Amino acid sequence: MSISLSISNRIATNNLVVGLSRDGQDLKIESGNVQIDQRFWLDALEKYGARGANDEVIKLVDPKRSNSLIVFTGLGDAKKVTNETIRRAAGSAARALFGAEQADFALPHKSANDLSAICEGALLGSYLFMDFFSKVAAEKKSPLLQINVISRFTDSELVNKVIKRSLVIFEQTTMVRDLINTPPSHLTPESFCLRITQLCKDLPIKAQTFKSDYLLKNGYGGIIGVGKGSANPPAMLHLSYEPKISKSSKSNPNLKRYAFVGKGITFDTGGLALKPAQGMEAMKSDMSGAAAVVAATIAIAKLNLPIAIDAWAPLAENMVSDNATRPSDVIKIYGGKTVEVLNPDAEGRLVLADAIVKATEVAEKSGGLDGLVDVATLTGAQVVALGTRTSAVMTNNEDFSDLFLTAADISGEQFWPMPLPEELRASLDSPTADIANIGERMGGMLVAGLFLKEFVKPETPWLHLDIAGPAYNEKTAHGYTPVGGTGIAVRSLITLAELAVSHN
Ligand code: BES
Ligand code: MN
Ligand code: ZN
Repeated sequence: MSISLSISNRIATNNLVVGLSRDGQDLKIESGNVQIDQRFWLDALEKYGARGANDEVIKLVDPKRSNSLIVFTGLGDAKKVTNETIRRAAGSAARALFGAEQADFALPHKSANDLSAICEGALLGSYLFMDFFSKVAAEKKSPLLQINVISRFTDSELVNKVIKRSLVIFEQTTMVRDLINTPPSHLTPESFCLRITQLCKDLPIKAQTFKSDYLLKNGYGGIIGVGKGSANPPAMLHLSYEPKISKSSKSNPNLKRYAFVGKGITFDTGGLALKPAQGMEAMKSDMSGAAAVVAATIAIAKLNLPIAIDAWAPLAENMVSDNATRPSDVIKIYGGKTVEVLNPDAEGRLVLADAIVKATEVAEKSGGLDGLVDVATLTGAQVVALGTRTSAVMTNNEDFSDLFLTAADISGEQFWPMPLPEELRASLDSPTADIANIGERMGGMLVAGLFLKEFVKPETPWLHLDIAGPAYNEKTAHGYTPVGGTGIAVRSLITLAELAVSHN
């Protein structure tokens, strides 16, 4: 069942969502351009003990309209309402409306970007993953089917653009969440490639799968080394999107080319460095980076952005077996660098190294890369450093990371810059091979970044996004973020491509 989204200047349903903020001690109803009987409702809300806090949603029956609800969603401090506050408030309201079919969202918005935030929040909050229930569980209410956002913006070109973009973001975020939530019994490197290849048939995207025997013959020692302990063979998926542009603009030196590389471990047991059983189930999310880069590429193609994108997803299942890579084994990454695998649980960097080298090599045939972004649930140290809601950005190019951080800010995704201190590099020295796959434990997120840096050409602007914490929500739902796969990084990557185009 697909969800419908409209933007109009009038109420169309019997569930009306409005914002509730707090200014000092005073509650304030913020309903965009919909008129509300402030005095009547504030009186009722005060009796309820409403605080207008973030994630607080209060549903009241509207005595003036039959069979109607008014849903107050918290915006927090009235002076601190941002684009992301609005997105989250819309998401919380959408979650509170599970079981209802339709709703109008009347929330404050000053700009087109705020309007997008309402649309995105309402859509992204309306997510439910039911693929593995044998029958419709009675207690599971379904999400909204029809969302109407009330706006004074009526310019149809703008409105249509916002609707199109929001729906693309919703679709692709849903795809990422679904892939993450799909158990490894049902998502292997091979089935990941098949699902995405199928989707790309109807799009201007070329999809190519490099199978395990190809990878073995052609020197992809990282992917093979990680995947060889599994009965489900590894693979690498390559998506290529070339924008439709005229001949004359094809020679346009301003046409940019980005490569996105995503870690695709369909399950990470830790290999022979077996992880503890407690919490291991969350490692079905270890392909979140791969899902994010694929989804962002599909979104960019659907939005017809004039930028070339290559997405690379090195996929493997990190398992334990008599054929699994041992601590002390030496593998050879694509391109020739050797790695001593001291810890088979530091597997993400191995598959990424192969893909980073390949992505760089392929792009050289078409003029090189304007940017390379890898996305990975790479280290537990990321979660220790930044928690479960803030991801890390590491880079060899401050301008590129500034552009990305701007994109993340517009998108409402929390990313924070982290350094790559040179002095930590020596801890990766190996007595046996060019480099070891683990180094100094302290600053483990940065050490992992420094390992990847060894495989990036110094002249390629590069970002390493460690999304280990934010990719998968093991706690409770909040804002537009459900339990399970979140879809983090998709919006920032799309916005990064948009900014890259406009910065020509
Ligand atoms: N997939 C994990 C990282 C991870 C941890 C992701 C928690 C999400 C939540 C990664 O492959 C891993 O095991 N990393 C090790 C590296 C260590 C052995 C250097 C880690 O962080 O413990
Ligand atoms: Mn691991
Ligand atoms: Zn992993």
